[in-house]
Amino acid sequence: MSLHEAPEYSDIKVFQVKGKHIVLGISGGIAAYKSAHLLRLLVKQGAEVQVVITPNGKEFITPVTLSSLSGKPVVSEFFTANTGEWHSHVDLGLWADLMVIAPATASTIAKMANGVADNMLVTTYLSAKEHVMVAPAMDLDMWAHPSTQRNVATLRADGVEIIEPAEGELASHLVGRGRMEEPENIVKRIREYFNRSESMTGLRVAITAGPTYERIDPVRFIGNYSSGKMGFALAEECSARGAEVTLIAGPVAIETRSPRIRRIDVESAQEMHNVALGEFAASDIGIFSAAVADYRPLKAESSKIKREHNDGMSIELVRNPDIAFDCTRSRRPGQVFVGFALETDDEMANAASKLERKGLDMIVLNSLRDKGAGFRTDTNKVTIVTATGEAAYPLKTKREVAADIVDAIENLMGARGESCGD
Ligand code: C5P
Repeated sequence: MSLHEAPEYSDIKVFQVKGKHIVLGISGGIAAYKSAHLLRLLVKQGAEVQVVITPNGKEFITPVTLSSLSGKPVVSEFFTANTGEWHSHVDLGLWADLMVIAPATASTIAKMANGVADNMLVTTYLSAKEHVMVAPAMDLDMWAHPSTQRNVATLRADGVEIIEPAEGELASHLVGRGRMEEPENIVKRIREYFNRSESMTGLRVAITAGPTYERIDPVRFIGNYSSGKMGFALAEECSARGAEVTLIAGPVAIETRSPRIRRIDVESAQEMHNVALGEFAASDIGIFSAAVADYRPLKAESSKIKREHNDGMSIELVRNPDIAFDCTRSRRPGQVFVGFALETDDEMANAASKLERKGLDMIVLNSLRDKGAGFRTDTNKVTIVTATGEAAYPLKTKREVAADIVDAIENLMGARGESCGD
């Protein structure tokens, strides 16, 4: 097919990609010749594309071809040799609505996974604030190698969308998985991303995440193993779909990536409760993913409790407020509230009763019996329970689980909207 023929993917709606800023990263593989076609398709649909190519990439496709197609000089080096002009990867990372790396070689994937920032492509990736897609291309044994698979898993856990390579004949003439996905299909994924990225525009989302620490004395607390990863992944996912997100975070060691997330750090359940009441009342969607301590010491000592003063000791505990219960009591019509349930037994019965008792529209159930689910892992295996049914999902990265949960919330809101319209 010539580049000028009408594409068979004529269902692609031009406005979804039109005007979008896309950084196209090209690394050094035979599949780089397909990047010219991908670039052409994106430009044809009205995207502004800035190509960033690795030094090896230039061995496979010339910058002249790419700059002619994109209408912009191709970026490859940190400096322009004759003028000393510095190319700012930070500016490029901020400019991009999306970064697509196609083809991504095993080496580029490894560098991205480990932050080896020795070329413009990887530095731009590290500065990118918005979504990143990676279309790997390599020989089948390289793709299947545990090292590559480990690096791909790291990228997935970091929120990168992997466009799985297809099966077919490879540059080595071997046949297997490793071919870069066809440019038409990459464009389809890009279109789907931009579609998704606006699905929550105008919606306000409040999320609690992480553990709470209940102070015993200035150096000790009662806490739990929650890492906050699931709640943070939900915040990133909602933000990526255009929502205005407020994240109320207990003490966690993680950062928010999207600059659009408004983060409020708290320590104890009472502090979380105080902040949550106002934030959830103002939200369209409320997600309670924090592992809130059910009890706190009646009295927090003002100085460190000394061991020598006590043979044994007991701490009197009092109940903490139930944040989910209190926030859903004064609900407005149309609000959607989602809670989590981490159970060790009688999972479904407990989830169903929590749905009712806490005034929630959806419970995300994870069982500590499932390997890779629950606290401190990068993966989760959930069942989503609503008043009308339940859906079990396989083990996925927390970011992918977040996408499933947000899809389920959007479906629920859509179904409500339809029934209101009847
Ligand atoms: O009752 P349980 O702790 O199992 O309920 C879990 C759900 O309730 C989670 O969504 C959690 O964030 C929320 N929760 C809360 N405040 C509490 C306890 C739990 O918001 N004090």
